[in-house]
This record gives sequence, structure tokens and C-alpha cells, in this order.
Amino acid sequence: MGKILEAVGITKSFEKDNKGKIQVLKGIDLSVWKGEYLCIMGPSGVGKTTLLYVLSSLDKPDQGKVIYYFDGTTIEIQNKTNDELARIRNKKIGFVFQFHHLLPEFTALENVALPLIIGGNSEKAALNRAKEMLSKFDLQERLNNKPSELSGGEQQRVAIARAIINNPDIVFADEPTGNLDTINAKVVLDLMVSLQKEYGITFVVATHSNEVASFADRIAYMKDGNIVEISERRKFR
Ligand SMILES: Nc1ncnc2c1ncn2[C@@H]1O[C@H](COP(=O)(O)OP(=O)(O)O)[C@@H](O)[C@H]1O
Ligand SMILES: [Mg+2]
Repeated sequence: MGKILEAVGITKSFEKDNKGKIQVLKGIDLSVWKGEYLCIMGPSGVGKTTLLYVLSSLDKPDQGKVIYYFDGTTIEIQNKTNDELARIRNKKIGFVFQFHHLLPEFTALENVALPLIIGGNSEKAALNRAKEMLSKFDLQERLNNKPSELSGGEQQRVAIARAIINNPDIVFADEPTGNLDTINAKVVLDLMVSLQKEYGITFVVATHSNEVASFADRIAYMKDGNIVEISERRKFR
């Protein structure tokens, strides 16, 4: 299938008031295969979120390279301007991140339509497509509700609908079931797996949940700033 992403020698440090500099990522090499569901696992504080930020171009590494292979072109993110990266993210990358909350003032429908409108689609076309997507996710009764009027599971489904509305090649999800009960977590997981199978979307998911990881094709385990082991259930190469 080939690679969709390659990270080479990624390092990242943060200033800590009391401890000076701490190096969170110590030279990570990681390839992501097109169409796979890759989990990044490890205890809290190990650097999963930091790595996802770097892989998804939201943050820059101190050293190392991140390369995307989209539509047969090679994109080295360090050579792109912030505007170019924003455009690439809008078209090619979906985010299911804690910081990336649904906008509280907008309805579910508007939240999902927004990336399409930002991407240059007409409002009418965007709302139509968002409606279709939300119906697919069994949220047709919730189109006009604001996030605060939705359950945690419904909010997370809306967030996933928003993440994939632009037909991204790759979706990054950070603890996607983190604050869901078991039943809702299962609904969200099934949804991600069916999107992977149906549309061939690549998923890179940071989690400390064994349940989430049990669906993965590969699991990369982080420890002390490195990926120390990768287990593989299904081959994509
Ligand atoms: N913006 C930041 N400034 C300072 N320290 C940070 C920042 N982001 C993360 N860290 C630190 O980096 C380490 C790894 O954090 P994180 O990537 O969130 O881990 P995980 O997602 O595995 O729980 C932690 O010690 C955290 O406090
Ligand atoms: Mg985290």
C-alpha cells in the first residue's frame, strides 16, 4: 500500500519551570502505512499528544522531519509556510483532539459544515453534505442542537463527522474515547473502524485504552521519549 507519513528523528523538549528543559521526544522514527489503523500507546505523560501534534503538523519538532505522501506527491512539512500547512490540513487531515472542541455557539450541522465552507464550498452544498454525514452517523435528529445539548457520545460522533467531512487521507485522534462510557466508546470505535474499512481512511490514534488498541492494525508503544516496540496484527506494506 505504501507510506502516507514518515517521521524521522523527531525530538521535542519543553521548558519546565522547576525542572529546566525536559526532552519529551528523543528521536522518534515512525512510518504510517496508507489505510492502516495505528495506535500510539503509553502511560500518561509519555508524550503521545506531543507526538500527535508534531505528526499532524500542528507543532514543529526541535529536530527531525515529517513527510506526507498525499496523492503521489511528497510534502516535507518543514518546507511549508503556515498558510500552506493550514490548507493541507483543511483538505487532507482530520482531527479529533481534545483542544479542538466543537464550537459551542454553532449547531451540530454547522460545526460539521464549517470545514467545507472554509475549504471554499458554498454554504448550501456544505450544509447538505454535513446533513448527509450526520445522518450516516445516526444523528439526523440532532442536526440543530448545540454541543451542550448533546451527550458525550453524540458530541464525539459530531467531532468525527467534522474530522472526515472533507474526505481526509488521514485522521489523528487523541484519546477519542477518553471521556466516554463503555457503550459510547464502543459506538465511536466501531465508527472509526468502519470509516477505515469503507473509505480507506488512515487512523493514527493516541490512547491508553486497551479497548481502543484492540482494533488497531499496529500498536506503537512509547517509553522514555522513544517508541520501544511496534506490534503488528495486520500487514499493510
Ligand atoms: N506545551 C507544553 N509546555 C510544557 N510542557 C509540556 C507541553 N506539552 C506537553 N508538555 C509535557 O510533555 C510531557 C508529555 O506530555 P503529553 O504529550 O501530553 O503526554 P501524553 O499525551 O502521553 O499524556 C509531559 O511531561 C507534559 O507535561
Ligand atoms: Mg495526551
